[in-house]
Amino acid sequence: MNISIIGAGVMGHGIAQIFAMNNFNVFLVDINKEALKKAIEQIRWSLKKFSEKKIIKEEEINKILSRIKTLTSIEEAAKNSDFIVEAVPEKIDLKKQIFKILDENAPKHAILATNTSSLSITEISEVTKRPEKVIGMHFFNPPQLMKLVEVIKGKNTSEETIKYTIELCEKIGKKPILVKKDVRGFIVNRILHQFLNEAFWSVYRKETTIEEIDSVVKYIAKFPMGAFELADYIGLDIVLNVSEILEKAYGLRAKVCPIIKDYVKEEKLGRKTMIGFYDWSKGRPEIKIITSSEYDVKRLYSIIVNEAAYLIYEDVSNASDIDIAMKLGAGWSEGPCEIADRIGIDQIFNELKRLYERYNEEMYNPCKLLKDYIDNGRLGIKSGRGFYEYK
Ligand code: CAA
Repeated sequence: MNISIIGAGVMGHGIAQIFAMNNFNVFLVDINKEALKKAIEQIRWSLKKFSEKKIIKEEEINKILSRIKTLTSIEEAAKNSDFIVEAVPEKIDLKKQIFKILDENAPKHAILATNTSSLSITEISEVTKRPEKVIGMHFFNPPQLMKLVEVIKGKNTSEETIKYTIELCEKIGKKPILVKKDVRGFIVNRILHQFLNEAFWSVYRKETTIEEIDSVVKYIAKFPMGAFELADYIGLDIVLNVSEILEKAYGLRAKVCPIIKDYVKEEKLGRKTMIGFYDWSKGRPEIKIITSSEYDVKRLYSIIVNEAAYLIYEDVSNASDIDIAMKLGAGWSEGPCEIADRIGIDQIFNELKRLYERYNEEMYNPCKLLKDYIDNGRLGIKSGRGFYEYK
């Protein structure tokens, strides 16, 4: 079976590697020859890491690499593909243009997937003559290590296409989570961006510092990266792009913070430019433990629980899928719904109310679902039922 990956950037090369590691023949396509060369070097580096960690044998490295063929022609790759994953920059017109070419050249049976993190699958599907075969397949950075794939059903996606894509995710060792509605930001990016927004706004309002927030996130919440570290890791241009799409979709609730715009304007984009909120020239920044921080982790928890509640209220997902998605897509030690049940949904609600009264910002306005749960005695572990049931 032949797979094509369109775009050899951070996500594209990682996705190509995963397919090749699982015995698929891969065409990795980019119009830029230099990007293709760099992609193969990065794949070789990553495979070497895996061999050092005994995840693969050293002699497998060249075998895996030999399954990846680099190409600069989308048409040529499409003609010979059974499944195609597009992973080009988040520009709707560019994606539409590529999907038109893919549709005109790929065999009739081929499924066309997009790794978009926030654009509409339905809108992309409508430029093709096979909208039922267009689907969202959203990987997480770094795709080689993050186990989650969000599988997004557009309005036109057929059940057969969903089933096939879910099975394909399982064949490459990923955990697919179905996103029931084609909403902007799907599950993980909606929660991550509210989490990052709370961090950005708190520093912008000069209530805390980058170092304090990241210390709280890493050492108290025990997430794998600080909020600012993660933003740098993702790329501040990508964070801004996704934030603007979310602001357009959700209005004041997802208001973009000026702090991020300033960094992007100055081309301080994080890890990829070696400088962002942190200096990356010597590798990952060291997050210091700050014990004197007055920033309360409950604030961050409340924001992420609120977004999880909206996802359930809007019937985009359910508590269990949301928690799995955050644990496997962002490496969190606990999902938002588990956190809420542990702390108490009434406590989370009261914190949101307090923040809403203090700042009058929509991001703190509690979702109706939380109030409904409280009115029905669903407070979390302490009452035997919250997002989950406890025996
Ligand atoms: N391939 C192979 N190995 C890799 C690798 C790759 N691509 N990237 C890193 N590694 C290796 C590191 O080199 C390191 O190896 P050594 O032990 O030999 O030094 C090892 O993996 C562990 O890495 P770290 O020491 O940096 O530490 P870690 O334990 O924190 O793991 C991480 C790294 C898995 C990235 C972890 O920090 C994590 O889960 N971070 C959160 C990432 C996240 O939230 N991703 C989602 C971003 S949002 C997104 O992608 C969606 C979007 O649309 C924007």
